[in-house]
Amino acid sequence: MPAAPQHPESHAGPEEIARAVAILRAGGVVAFPTETVYGLGADALNGGAVARVFALKGRPAGNPLIVHVTGEEMAGRVAAAWPHEAAKLARAFWPGPLTIVLPASRAVPKAVTAGGPTVAVRCPDHLVTLSLLEAFGGPLVGPSANPSGRVSPTTAAHVREVFSGADVFVLEGGPCRGGIESTVVSLVSVRGGAGSARVLRPGLIGAEELSIVLGHPVEEGSAAAEAGPAPSPGMQEVHYAPAARAVVFEAGDLGRVLASAPRVEVLTHSGLIVAAPHTAIGLPSEANAYAARLYAALREADALKPDLIAIERPPAEGAQWAAVADRLARAAKPFRP
Ligand code: TXA
Ligand code: MG
Repeated sequence: MPAAPQHPESHAGPEEIARAVAILRAGGVVAFPTETVYGLGADALNGGAVARVFALKGRPAGNPLIVHVTGEEMAGRVAAAWPHEAAKLARAFWPGPLTIVLPASRAVPKAVTAGGPTVAVRCPDHLVTLSLLEAFGGPLVGPSANPSGRVSPTTAAHVREVFSGADVFVLEGGPCRGGIESTVVSLVSVRGGAGSARVLRPGLIGAEELSIVLGHPVEEGSAAAEAGPAPSPGMQEVHYAPAARAVVFEAGDLGRVLASAPRVEVLTHSGLIVAAPHTAIGLPSEANAYAARLYAALREADALKPDLIAIERPPAEGAQWAAVADRLARAAKPFRP
């Protein structure tokens, strides 16, 4: 028999998972680790528990939640149907950072779907949370575990900074490997083969990768084009924002950026050097590694209380950099010299 998987010291084990399940069964809220960011979990089929998550986050009622599942079987309990395209994507990318939007089953409370006809489902790739879902035995909502509009948490400590232990029991799972939220793809208009799949939120899995698996083109982006009263509001509002004023700048504008505020905290992936009183945080030059570090770096920058956070514009190549650029566009304004 293979040895049971070992949980690193810092990861929640069976005792914490049992306690989390008891809290969830009582309609409470548990923060869980995933490979993207930490989520704020509650019983997806309990309207009262879901309402508690909206209240804790200060999330507008019109912004629907992602439902986390152990896999295709559980996804079939919250989606009204499980088309061939969904099965193809789930088999290729689950567990993993891909959220699939489909028509919702009637079992899903209106609060989860923001009153809309669709539901978003994903199977997260983290042993702690897969164990939690397995032990709970049902789907869990899981918006990112941050107050609405702020930077998503990539460690358990980030979650504890903003939510009290009395409100939210936090399961440890170490730093998130992916670092930015999952790709959200809608299959709503694919039914009957009439329409195409559409990426509503870019992530580390790009449209091209999805289209290779589906065998037909996948559209990138406009949430506004998605039918129904509940598009992907995460795509429309200012989001993922640090507290300090933040700009994205071209490396050639560094001098002007530094001259524009008394104390600037620079985030650089190309090793730009700055002189006191300004300081800099170095980020990786490879897209996946950069994404994994980005939110923690924004928090570190914010904690230094600079007059301005200035983020060097990342390269414009490939799906992963495009997903990073999407998050930066929501966190910061372009620098205008
Ligand atoms: O990586 C992730 O997806 C993380 C981890 C915790 O799983 N979760 C996450 O959840 O980012 P949240 O609530 O912060 O973002 C969910 C996004 C929002 O942009 C929301 O509008 C969209 O998914 N969404 C949820 N349900 C939807 C639906 N039925 N149709 C379209 N978009 C939906
Ligand atoms: Mg979020």
